[in-house]
Amino acid sequence: MNPIPVNQPLLNGNEKKYLLECIDTGWISSEGPFIKKFEEQFAARHGRKYGIAVSNGSAALDAAIAALKIGAGDEVILPTFTIISCASAIVRSGAVPIVVDCDRNTWNMDVSHIEEKITPRTKAIMVVHIYGLPVDMEPVLALADKYGLQIIEDAAEMHGQTYKGRPCGSFGNISTFSFYPNKHITTGEGGMLLVDDEYLAERCCSLRNLCFQPQKRFVHEELGWNMRMTNLQAALGVAQLERLDEFVARKRHIGQRYTQALSGIPGLQLPLAQTDYADNIYWVYGLVLKDEVPFDAREAMRRLADYKIGTRPFFYPMHEQPVFQKMGLFNGVSCPVAEKIARRGFYIPSGMALTDEQISQVAEVISELFQ
Ligand SMILES: Cc1ncc(COP(=O)(O)O)c(C=O)c1O
Repeated sequence: MNPIPVNQPLLNGNEKKYLLECIDTGWISSEGPFIKKFEEQFAARHGRKYGIAVSNGSAALDAAIAALKIGAGDEVILPTFTIISCASAIVRSGAVPIVVDCDRNTWNMDVSHIEEKITPRTKAIMVVHIYGLPVDMEPVLALADKYGLQIIEDAAEMHGQTYKGRPCGSFGNISTFSFYPNKHITTGEGGMLLVDDEYLAERCCSLRNLCFQPQKRFVHEELGWNMRMTNLQAALGVAQLERLDEFVARKRHIGQRYTQALSGIPGLQLPLAQTDYADNIYWVYGLVLKDEVPFDAREAMRRLADYKIGTRPFFYPMHEQPVFQKMGLFNGVSCPVAEKIARRGFYIPSGMALTDEQISQVAEVISELFQ
């Protein structure tokens, strides 16, 4: 059996044509015309006024925290089950991350536990949509309203998804995306911030560009970063965005085929196909080993590797990260659901270029190994 990678992007639309355009015109830095086009089209697709393209999704989170002036003395509530980028943006700003456990079925932040974490120091809720289903946003929006909190919406994994018909990426004071190659659309590396507020948009633009000042270029009132996206990356982004609906449909097809093939296996928890607010877009197809399975995710991934099937473990909870424990964070915090799925969850090949034949091969091996 040929190796089946955990992810492979599809780059067979206008990507090459637009990249050649960059080379032919010499626009390869962050000044070129594809940047503006990508920002405008991506923002419009999400019903937002401004898009600010950056170098990756982690940088977008750093910029979001800084743009909202979150820092020492503030607390930000976030899911423990997420990527380190979310917590590191908060910690680097000097603010304190306060984690919430996740729901055992959707793997998203359990929104019923947010209110008990709110204190007078809480400045924002960082919502992170995980793996294919959005967070239940209405209760979060109600809390933000009740307590006057900002919402940072990390929609890195949620291109093309909606919550009750409204695009993910339209809910945050600042919403962020990643365009890493395992995302529904990719720019190689890349990220985006979406905002409606003009002042916030200007802050995000300034922060991504070293906080150069328009009048006194090399005099700085604040520290920023160079997190600019290049025209080459944006050219890929424009080509990929043209196919977003097709890509989402393809991912749904992959998810549905896996579910059909794997639903008879008693030891596996499969992703929920839908909730009452969204249909899964299966950014990745995750599996959680039920209690009766006598080994953990690491062993399952090892067994699949014997068949050259690529896998990745689930996220490891923020409150259990050695780097944060060494900083004295999260003392005594326990989030049993996240702790469990981190050890018993992993995902199987889910990339855009996965063929139906490969899906059948993966499903066959899993059926054999876990029956
Ligand atoms: C939820 C979430 N946030 C942020 C990121 C970081 O994005 P990037 O890899 O572009 O820095 C990722 C990456 O996969 C992610 O899944």
